[in-house]
Amino acid sequence: MDATALDTELDRIFDDLTAIPAFPKTVNYALRILDDPGSTTTQVGRVIRFDPALTANILKAANSAYFGLPRQVSSIETAIALLGTRQVREILIIAASRPYLDREIYGYGMRQHDLWAHSLGCAAISEIVARHSGFASSDLLFTSALLHDIGKYVMNEHVGIRAEEIQLQAGVDAMTFTEAEWRVLGTDHAVLGSEILRLWEFPRAIVRAVRNHHDPDLYIQDELSRLLAFSNILTVSLGFGVGLDGFRHRISPELSRKLKLTASGLAAIIQESFAEWQSLATLLA
Ligand SMILES: [Fe+2]
Ligand SMILES: [Fe+2]
Repeated sequence: MDATALDTELDRIFDDLTAIPAFPKTVNYALRILDDPGSTTTQVGRVIRFDPALTANILKAANSAYFGLPRQVSSIETAIALLGTRQVREILIIAASRPYLDREIYGYGMRQHDLWAHSLGCAAISEIVARHSGFASSDLLFTSALLHDIGKYVMNEHVGIRAEEIQLQAGVDAMTFTEAEWRVLGTDHAVLGSEILRLWEFPRAIVRAVRNHHDPDLYIQDELSRLLAFSNILTVSLGFGVGLDGFRHRISPELSRKLKLTASGLAAIIQESFAEWQSLATLLA
């Protein structure tokens, strides 16, 4: 493709960013209140109450987690207090992300539910990784992991049209699919994903980690990016929701040293990840 044609294609890809439906305002607002250490369950409840589906989700989670209670939890404030900030955050972010991720992403050879399973799998694995590595900001890592491939929502069609060329390039020059994506289209789903999250005003650290997740020169530079890249590599290696972009990854030689994971630590992470995947697979079935 000549330079002008590539520019036109890039313009079309970046124009598509404006067509992506906005992240639900209620969730964005509720997440911000949850982030504020001085906030109360009443403040969070006041926001969530405006969204009946979210309210139902949280009440359901509280009632199933605490089914031994003498009576059903029917107040949103009580449900939030019972579940705790972390679980409420996860419920909100999972519910809000699903419409973008639980769909067929044919450009990357992903059937309906594949990307959703991959994203949930990566988020679940990231929590295990965060625990084993003693990472304090597990909330940031969970959100980054759940949304790391959101760029595929926009890139799907563009990659779909050029999939054969991308695969051919990857095969000929021994590149990863993402590198070939960049070579053919002038950008990739990691860049587009970070742009989406920037437009949605997610924290800068998450925008950066998503931008970096396939690039070893970039992801090696900060802890959140390293942990996200590692969680994604592990999710793919274990075969959780893999598409055309497949198993080939560019792994920084410094990654394992910087993560300070021992062989027994890694074995434990893999074992726990399989157990987590099994319960997720039952949920998704
Ligand atoms: Fe990715
Ligand atoms: Fe991924």
